[in-house]
Amino acid sequence: MTVRLFRNVSLVTPVDHGKPSAGERQRDVVRHSPGAMLVADGLIVAAGAERDVLTRAREFRVDMEVDGGGRCCVPGFVDPHTHACFAKTRESEFSLRLSGVPYLEILKQGGGILSSVRAVRSATDDELFAVTRANAMRALASGTTTMEMKSGYGLDTASELRMLAVIDRVRRETPLDVAITFMGAHAVPEEFRGSPDAYVDLLVQAMIPAAADQGLAGYCDVFCEEGVFSVAQSRRILEAGKKAGLRPRVHADEVHDTGGAALAAEVGAVSAEHLLAAGDAGLDAMARAGVVANLLPATAYSLRKPYARARFMIERGLPVAVATDCNPGSCYCESMPFVFGLSVMQMGLTVEEALTAATLNAAYAIALAGRVGSLEPGKQADFLLLDGETPAAIAYHAGGSVVDEVYKLGERVATRGACC
Ligand code: NIG
Ligand code: FE
Repeated sequence: MTVRLFRNVSLVTPVDHGKPSAGERQRDVVRHSPGAMLVADGLIVAAGAERDVLTRAREFRVDMEVDGGGRCCVPGFVDPHTHACFAKTRESEFSLRLSGVPYLEILKQGGGILSSVRAVRSATDDELFAVTRANAMRALASGTTTMEMKSGYGLDTASELRMLAVIDRVRRETPLDVAITFMGAHAVPEEFRGSPDAYVDLLVQAMIPAAADQGLAGYCDVFCEEGVFSVAQSRRILEAGKKAGLRPRVHADEVHDTGGAALAAEVGAVSAEHLLAAGDAGLDAMARAGVVANLLPATAYSLRKPYARARFMIERGLPVAVATDCNPGSCYCESMPFVFGLSVMQMGLTVEEALTAATLNAAYAIALAGRVGSLEPGKQADFLLLDGETPAAIAYHAGGSVVDEVYKLGERVATRGACC
């Protein structure tokens, strides 16, 4: 057994109550200064006031002791929504959007997600892996220790399975924990233009069962949006996913309020994503069903849209998580510190609420809170040492990197923006 003691830190962590933290609990964050953490074989044995942890440490032979120099120590970020597996960026499309062409119009004209599909289909596995790994390593260097990634740029059985396998390779070959989502319902592929229901049939009858059989993905997601998949089509897809053992998640009400939030509640989704245009009734249904509101403020920033109503959601009792949505179209961002800053400065979350959103509730949004998301006994020692006294530094030092060191399972994996 390898035992490590991290002491002289200002330990700040959300408290896990066994379910996503909603309402006032979203602010339930404890601080121990001086604090310490005792880690055995990558798992937390004790975390809290330094005096108490040092007493506990006497029961062990400590192999390594790290003095944090008083720096703030928070859980590693959990990024519960990315499309970081892609083959090429879409810079020319970004310029089109800047000149005023709407995001969904680009998709309608055969670009957007469909141009990423062409790129993935013509890339080799190694090319796809190289881009995805680079995205993951940049995320890790900025403090993300657990990351969700989706398929959805393949849109045929073979290409979707290939994407899931590449994501799994990133999971195996980087220090990150990676949660994998099947999203064959990201758009209607060109070969089914004009017959979207036939593509939904293919998803339900062949693609979803094949993805479940492959055994890599744990979730099934759908882009429920005007001109993409209707609520009725999304319901069929998510129910088929559930039948195959894939937990439902929904890209809901991103651009228009089509009823995606209510659908997420109805099917018992683990999370609903975006929610920029979600109405009160859909959000209340989500609160009653315990669905995590997974907000993606960097997408609102990149699409120049009003931010999701995070304060309203917290007041209505919804647990709020935040994620990057890292993708080559609507939001090319792998930085959770940037998302944290937007959460506080643009969505009006308190620092404590944002910390819970970016760690514990984010872990619940991908059903991994048993292992990650807070610094408590039994969980993985995935944590960050910040160049600052409190987590407020992440929003305060705008655009600067306050993530000094990144630890995964008690091992240092990045220092000042560079992976070890
Ligand atoms: O979450 N909205 C759908 N999917 C992504 C964008 C994907 C893309 O444009 O490539 C999103 O914003
Ligand atoms: Fe997305």
